[in-house]
Amino acid sequence: MKPREIVPDVFFVGAPDFDRKLFDALIPLPHGTSYNAYLVRGRDKTALIDAVEPTKLHVLEAYLKDVPKVDYLISDHTEQDHSGGIPWVLGRYPGIQVLSSELAKPMLVDHLGLDGNVIRAVADGERLDLGGKTLRFISTPWVHWPETMSTYLEEDKVLFSCDWFGSHIAQTELFVDGVEEILAPAKRYYAEIMMPFRKIIQKDLDKIKDLEIRLIAPSHGPIYRDPQSVIRAYRDWSDDKPHNAVVIPWVTMHGSTEILVERLIDGLVERGVTVHPFNMASADIGRLAMTLVDAATLVIAAPTVHVGPHPMVFNAVILANALRPKVRFAAIIGSYGWAGKMTDIIQAAIPNLKVELLPSVIAKGLPKPANLEAIDALAAAIASKHKELGLV
Ligand code: FEO
Repeated sequence: MKPREIVPDVFFVGAPDFDRKLFDALIPLPHGTSYNAYLVRGRDKTALIDAVEPTKLHVLEAYLKDVPKVDYLISDHTEQDHSGGIPWVLGRYPGIQVLSSELAKPMLVDHLGLDGNVIRAVADGERLDLGGKTLRFISTPWVHWPETMSTYLEEDKVLFSCDWFGSHIAQTELFVDGVEEILAPAKRYYAEIMMPFRKIIQKDLDKIKDLEIRLIAPSHGPIYRDPQSVIRAYRDWSDDKPHNAVVIPWVTMHGSTEILVERLIDGLVERGVTVHPFNMASADIGRLAMTLVDAATLVIAAPTVHVGPHPMVFNAVILANALRPKVRFAAIIGSYGWAGKMTDIIQAAIPNLKVELLPSVIAKGLPKPANLEAIDALAAAIASKHKELGLV
């Protein structure tokens, strides 16, 4: 297999993974994924940007079969789906130097057992001249670990961004021309791993705002020919202004909580609010995470199991707390049989959400007229809060 040229003397040498169904044993991958790596050939030196997940090492091996010499391995990110192939690369090219950020150097030693002597830490803004191809290293932390950096090829104006701007898509085409088809998977990926760091991502975006970029070549998913569209989307996703939307992760055991959820959805829709309900018994948590990117309000809806919230909804609570979305308001609704501490337990589980808590609505058994009126009042309160923020 020959390396696939994306611009003169720059080649794709990565691997799609059509069959992978889960990432980190957690994140669903409805479209598979890819582990992209790139070869940059200068007049004097050659650099490989990222390696691949070890399960797809044979693809990288095949691409590099007729490449006799590689001088540098640029490790933009230590997570093993990009770095796992480095030990093989070191064996294939004795004398090769690994270049990484300062923070990444000990992490590569810890995660891969590399000899630290083969790694040289590069400074933010440092340049590497390969002979007619100049790589500039740009520190872009938290996309998605603290050590991440991006690599910019000055002559061709290609930004190798690793996870940043990536999408979990397996396909044989290397490029995406428009962005419509890619924005949903890119947003899903942002939501799943980068949303907690959105304040830092805003600074990362500022750092590249004056860079002339013709292509963004991430390490998951296709290469962008229209890089500004995904950059603009990242601005929107990471900024502080939510959209006029409510996310409701819910589950029901005997129908009581479902009655409350349906009443709330009706009340919100009547008031012009977009609602994203997720029955957690079958929900795709990637889609749940996507809707949390923009939503102004989170309503957690659960029946009581023993004294606490139903565990399936509690998964959504833990996820929301970990992802730190920009939600401004939250409420808890649900039901119980004889006693419960559901609201206390849920409130204690979301310390990272900087939200105004709206009144809870908890029914004992089947919802009564008073419970339904309280749900109507909650819908009115949510719509009013959104209006105050100028979202309606
Ligand atoms: Fe694609 Fe954070 O690894």
